[in-house]
Amino acid sequence: MKEKREKKEMKVTPWNVSGKIDYEKLIREFGVSKINEELLERIKKHTKELHFMLKRNVFFSHRDLNWILNEYEKGNKFFLYTGRAPSGKVHLGHMMPWVFTKWLQDKFNAELWFQFPDEEKFLFKQDLKFDDVQKSLKDNMLDVIAVGFNPKKTYFLVDTVHANLMYKEACKVAKKITFSMVKASFGLNENSNIGEIFYTSMQTVPAFLPSILKKKNIPCLIPYAIDQDPHFRLTRDILPKLGYYKPASIQCSFLPPLNGVSGKMSSSEQYSIFTTDSPKEVETKIKKYAFSGGRDSIEEHRKKGGNPDIDVSFQYLRMLFEPNDEKLKKIYEEYKSGTMLTSELKMILIEKINAFLKEHQRKRKLAEKQVGKFLNWDK
Ligand code: TRP
Repeated sequence: MKEKREKKEMKVTPWNVSGKIDYEKLIREFGVSKINEELLERIKKHTKELHFMLKRNVFFSHRDLNWILNEYEKGNKFFLYTGRAPSGKVHLGHMMPWVFTKWLQDKFNAELWFQFPDEEKFLFKQDLKFDDVQKSLKDNMLDVIAVGFNPKKTYFLVDTVHANLMYKEACKVAKKITFSMVKASFGLNENSNIGEIFYTSMQTVPAFLPSILKKKNIPCLIPYAIDQDPHFRLTRDILPKLGYYKPASIQCSFLPPLNGVSGKMSSSEQYSIFTTDSPKEVETKIKKYAFSGGRDSIEEHRKKGGNPDIDVSFQYLRMLFEPNDEKLKKIYEEYKSGTMLTSELKMILIEKINAFLKEHQRKRKLAEKQVGKFLNWDK
């Protein structure tokens, strides 16, 4: 299906991503550093192989990765921190950074602190009730567990459950932040409720909570999609003032929505594939909505070839579903030359997604019995 590409102005805040995303501009505006060859080589020294999301620039920028590797090489191990604000269903766009985070956990044998800020969406969404959030919380935990994190090294942190530990620390953070510091970068204004204004202090806490619990400073590495960056810019400003390390971070781009127009995959839309979708649903959505880089007729496609760079099916393969570089390259070339048709490319993707989801759904079922292990911090 073809649609006119939107020309809306780019907007990227933790609660609103829209317009055509210009990653070069984000790098400049947010002040993150590009991941270059030299850094990739340095990572590879420790991991032996490079994850395809690193090689393909899906994870494209960072802060202080060199510092965290310096510390690691001195024997000062880091912990990982990431999170998910429960609300609604998990989709493929959420899975992308988690798949990579699991790889980091395995390669660096690192602890992971996974936050579920179960007040965040309550505060930011008009009609959402705490009861709805609690249902999503349990449901979303299953998806996170199904990614395969090591239960012995993974700590689930739920804001309303662990409030006794977190609130005091959040207040220490909040005391260092003024309204004017958060206004612009978070897209808040005079009419924002005061819970929204406070929220970022809760998202900062896991970056230093393990240091408090273990009574020594521990380096922290945070993988996240670039829209979360305003939170962690603040975190980095504030933690040294409280006597902790600035966290290092690594950012990924957004998995586009099926219609490929702009922004990112979003839970509230029909253009998303959820982890609980059936094979039939996946097939229908891809066939019906996945934006195609193909030509208007088969004859024209055979003659002139397609454009994999704007084709959403190809982008899903590149970003998440085809780890094999050789195979991906072959698909790229065949599609570009016109040998491969859009219907064939879509079929490849449908099969890949369905194989992935079959396994994910199996692990998700098993996860029901494992939630306790992840919530238990006595490892
Ligand atoms: N704010 C994130 C969301 O909307 C959840 C989150 C909390 C998070 N802590 C994080 C994301 C750390 C990445 C890294 O889902």
